[in-house]
Formats: sequence, C-alpha cells, structure tokens
Amino acid sequence: MAKIIDGKALAAQVKARCAAGAQGLARRPGLAVILVGDDPASRVYVSGKERDCAECGFLSFEHKLPADTTERELLTLIDRLNGDGAVDGILVQLPLPAHLNEEKVLNAISPDKDVDCFHPVNVGKMVTGQPVFLPCTPAGVMEMLRAYEIPVAGRHCVVLGRSNIVGKPMATLLLAQSGTVTICHSKTPDLAEFTRQADILVSAVGRTGLVTADMVKEGAVVIDVAMNRNAEGKLCGDVDFAAVEKKASYITPVPGGVGPMTRAMLMENLLTAAKHHQGQ
Ligand code: GUN
Repeated sequence: MAKIIDGKALAAQVKARCAAGAQGLARRPGLAVILVGDDPASRVYVSGKERDCAECGFLSFEHKLPADTTERELLTLIDRLNGDGAVDGILVQLPLPAHLNEEKVLNAISPDKDVDCFHPVNVGKMVTGQPVFLPCTPAGVMEMLRAYEIPVAGRHCVVLGRSNIVGKPMATLLLAQSGTVTICHSKTPDLAEFTRQADILVSAVGRTGLVTADMVKEGAVVIDVAMNRNAEGKLCGDVDFAAVEKKASYITPVPGGVGPMTRAMLMENLLTAAKHHQGQ
C-alpha cells in the first residue's frame, strides 16, 4: 500500500516558512491578481491565492476585469502594475478569454514580478540552471519529492503532458536533478509502454481514469497533477487512485496533493520577489 504524500500539510509548512521569511522586511510582499471574465474555476483558484497571501501576512490586490476587456486595456493595467512599488508579483489567471493573446499578455509582465515563472526570460533562466523563480506546480512537486526523501537522480521519470505550465517545466526540473526523463503526450502511440517503465510517474493531462493500475510499475512514485471533475461532479485526478494506491510506493491524492503545493510555491516566489525588490 502506498504512502500518501500529504500536500496540504506540506503546503502549510511552506507557507509558515514564507510568513517567517517576511518578518524582517520593511514592506509586506504584495501580489496583484488579475482575473479576466468570470470562469467559476478560475474564481475559486484566485480566491485561494488571496487567502494564502493573507495567511502568510502578504498583501493581495485583486483586479477583476470584465470578459470583454480589450488587449490594450489589459496591457495598460500590467504596465501600471509593473511600475507600482507596492506590487512585488503579478499573476494573470489563465485561461484568458479567447480574444486575448496569452503570449503577448504574459510577455508584458516584468520578469522580476513574474511569480508564475511564465515569462520567456525566466523560463530560459530555469532551463539553463540559473533560476530566479520556479514555476509553481512543478516546483511544488519537487518540494514533495524532497520532503519525502524520494531520490530523483538516475531514476526514470515519465511525465504525461507537455504544457508550458506543467509538462515542459516539470521535465526540466526532474532533469536538473539528474532524472532520466521521458515526456509523453497526445501523439504518443502506446502510453502504457512508457508509464510501466516509470520509477516516478507525473500525470498532468486532465483526463479522469487515464492512469490505471496496469500502467504502473510495482513500487513506483505516482504524482497526480490533474484537477478534473468526474461524472458525479467530484474533484479527481488522472490516476485511478483506489487501484494504483495498492501498487505504488508513494501517491498524491486529489484534492489535497499537488494543488495546495502549487499555491504554497507561489507564496515562496512572491517572497523571493519582495526580497529582491527590497535589496535583500
Ligand atoms: N491556470 C492554471 N494554472 C495556473 C497557474 O499556475 N497560474 C496561473 N496564473 N493561471 C493558471
């Protein structure tokens, strides 16, 4: 039976560390959160991030914009926040409405306030091993592996999904820890052929029931990044938890696994940004 990796408990530790780390600062770290439109899931994520800020003693400034906001209006706001001395981090909640160019919007955020680590400058620094910020979800997964003393070096890490937010940076961070990394995606012909070789399996696809027990090697570490709703509307991941739990050595639950860690790592990035802005 697998040990459950408790993301909620670990996230609480990370946030306590962040709160303590801000004690010596002259000014409280401040996060600007931009939400365009009223996607209900995004609204839940945004209020979670604002709650985390409050818990850490950080400030958050919410900018709720209508769904028909123009690109010009959004870029003007970002420009203003780039120059605002009370704002250490700027987060644009994704996805954006279809008429807005995500790449253009994310590239407009000043790299030193890019607490999501989506700007090409920060992605480039991460890939070349000179990181300033780390992308929150992959960084949260690495923190889980570290906290549970799960070694990465020399092990076969299989990542399902190749998004800019999770799959690609996840593979990069596992590689930086000397894992042997395979990335699978929608064009991979036989997923199970790869997943069965995984010592560490990270699924970030967004399809309920994708990872079944026959796809998992005995004793593997299984990390489920997905946040899906099943037929009954219940939150679940990609992994068939009940069956895979019997085979894996470690497994993350959904909810209570990667999700809280993502938010905790955002707080860590915000503290990093605030220290940098205050010359510490
Ligand atoms: N949408 C889904 N994940 C994320 C994230 O990590 N950051 C932002 N800004 N939007 C998201």
